[in-house]
Amino acid sequence: MRSHYCHQITEDRVDERVTLCGWVQRRRDHGGVIFLDIRDREGLVQAVVDPEQADAFARAEDCRNEFVLQVTGMVRRRPAGTENPGLASGRVEVQVEKIQILGRAEPLPFPLEEDGIAENLRLQYRYLDLRRPQMQQNLRLRHRVTHHVRNYLDQAGFLEVETPVLTRSTPEGARDYLVPSRTQPGHFFALPQSPQLFKQLLMVAGFDRYYQITKCFRDEDLRADRQPEFTQIDLEASFVSEEDVMAVGEGLVRSLFQEILGITLPTPFPRMRYTDAMNRFGVDRPDLRNPLELTELTDLMRAVEFKVFRQAAELPRGRVACLRVPGGATLSRTQIDAYTEFSAIYGAKGLAWIKVNERSQGLAGLQSPIVKFLPEETLAQILVRSGAQDGDILFFGADRAKVVNESLGNLRNRIAADLGLLQGDWQPVWITDFPMFEFDEKENRWSSTHHPFTSPQTDDLDSLQQDPANALARAYDLVLNGYEVGGGSIRIHRADVQEKVFAALGISPEEAREQFAFLLDALRYGAPPHGGMAFGLDRLVMLLTGSDSIRDVIAFPKTQKAGCLLTQAPSKVADRQLQELGIRLRPGVGDGLQNP
Ligand code: AMO
Ligand code: AMP
Repeated sequence: MRSHYCHQITEDRVDERVTLCGWVQRRRDHGGVIFLDIRDREGLVQAVVDPEQADAFARAEDCRNEFVLQVTGMVRRRPAGTENPGLASGRVEVQVEKIQILGRAEPLPFPLEEDGIAENLRLQYRYLDLRRPQMQQNLRLRHRVTHHVRNYLDQAGFLEVETPVLTRSTPEGARDYLVPSRTQPGHFFALPQSPQLFKQLLMVAGFDRYYQITKCFRDEDLRADRQPEFTQIDLEASFVSEEDVMAVGEGLVRSLFQEILGITLPTPFPRMRYTDAMNRFGVDRPDLRNPLELTELTDLMRAVEFKVFRQAAELPRGRVACLRVPGGATLSRTQIDAYTEFSAIYGAKGLAWIKVNERSQGLAGLQSPIVKFLPEETLAQILVRSGAQDGDILFFGADRAKVVNESLGNLRNRIAADLGLLQGDWQPVWITDFPMFEFDEKENRWSSTHHPFTSPQTDDLDSLQQDPANALARAYDLVLNGYEVGGGSIRIHRADVQEKVFAALGISPEEAREQFAFLLDALRYGAPPHGGMAFGLDRLVMLLTGSDSIRDVIAFPKTQKAGCLLTQAPSKVADRQLQELGIRLRPGVGDGLQNP
């Protein structure tokens, strides 16, 4: 229906007859002449309708914003002084001969040119929201990313293989989305949290190098960088070590940044051990643009009287640490109170602080609600360890390590943002040497840090059960500017090792067979050593587009409550459908629920 896209209407085409198809971005009535800005995917061009073209003019009078038109006319130079240098087609216009109204539009629920429209409204009318240039750019960039990833991995010898969406539960640590089976009532599929087990089976099947750009489903608490349905760039390879997988992953990300942003990331990406990351930053995904660091004080505090600190230091998984903020002595009481409240979100029971006004003055140079509780010698040690200088403030956390790490780790991000401390643009880092297991305080048992198919670093398999706290995994995460953009591991490829790991997790042989018989069997029929990783595509695109939320790089995302405002999913279903599935709802379930 069209001869050209709008951006192709340039001075080269003056005196050509063209046909454009698109939306009315704006209609202006200039006393006898009507201007229509026509917009399509590629650009904008001005169309001018004179009253002499009576038929076209009548239709132009009828047009409103966002009408869909087919417009035919002659390209001509714009009169001097009326050019728009911001547009590819800004020096020319189309003198209209014919207009077809292909689609009429009612006034839109929100103006497309305005920022700051409520996200719920944008999501309800997502197809209108997606007309906005920013969203068009985001999805186009996403297309370029997936295209590049496919080329890169194809060149590197990876084969794209699809894996099922209706499958069994895969343990990535989140809650499953379940799908009831009609043909086998009372039985359920789980949507995959990742293709983890299938990609391992593809290695057993001899495909050697697999990749897939695929949807994963996790019913977990949502955040700005989490969706219940998200996309992974998933890959796996046989006969590889950590170094091989990391080289592919790092090469892929580096070439993406080069291709999409023209940015050269460092070679190689720096690496950091998990324990170092936790000790220094309180998180396993540190934003290395942030210069602030934690100082370990647990050992010092075992010897002090001050109960808050000593008791935390004596807990089995306790920690006392401080965060030094250079120049922070100027923070007001109100700001410190705000940070105390902020830390409380992560479970901190308080936020002790010391302002270092003048080191040379000894005790008199320190201002703090806690100096009176600490011996001078200990205070001196704190200053030395943290490297505190005059004008700094130290914030203290004392609790279970988990609470200290989360509160001081997040405070570190918050303060760096407030004080504008971030340095440099892009700071990738590999985190390595993750623990095999972490203690689940709620369930009071050990669980996998990564997933239960991750290979331990040790050959001493009995140590896994005897000393789970100190077992390390052959796992690695790629972190970029504080976001975990990818992670993976070398897998277990021997049935006996897999059984030992299940045992360490408290999974009995019967339970293991019930859930993973197919995997355990496969490991008995010639399984190659293998490993791989998966990238969060949405997170990568979020970073590449400079968006604040992954919702802005997903065409049809879900809300914080895991609902779709556009289609009103999830929704109730007919009783007949439930009957077919053998499902009966408890009376009243879902009544009065406002969706979503
Ligand atoms: P993992 O669980 O670390 O590993 O997931 C890999 C990457 O996927 C992204 N991601 C998410 N993105 C958006 N919303 C979510 N809810 C979400 N959850 C995870 C992250 C993360 O780094 N099978 C393993 C990979 C492997 O071992 O090969 C896995 O799924 O960027
Ligand atoms: P208190 O003796 O309870 O008044 O506490 C003295 C100081 O220690 C106050 O500044 C509290 O905010 C701080 N504080 C109390 N509990 C903790 C904790 N668990 N971690 C860090 N600081 C704390």
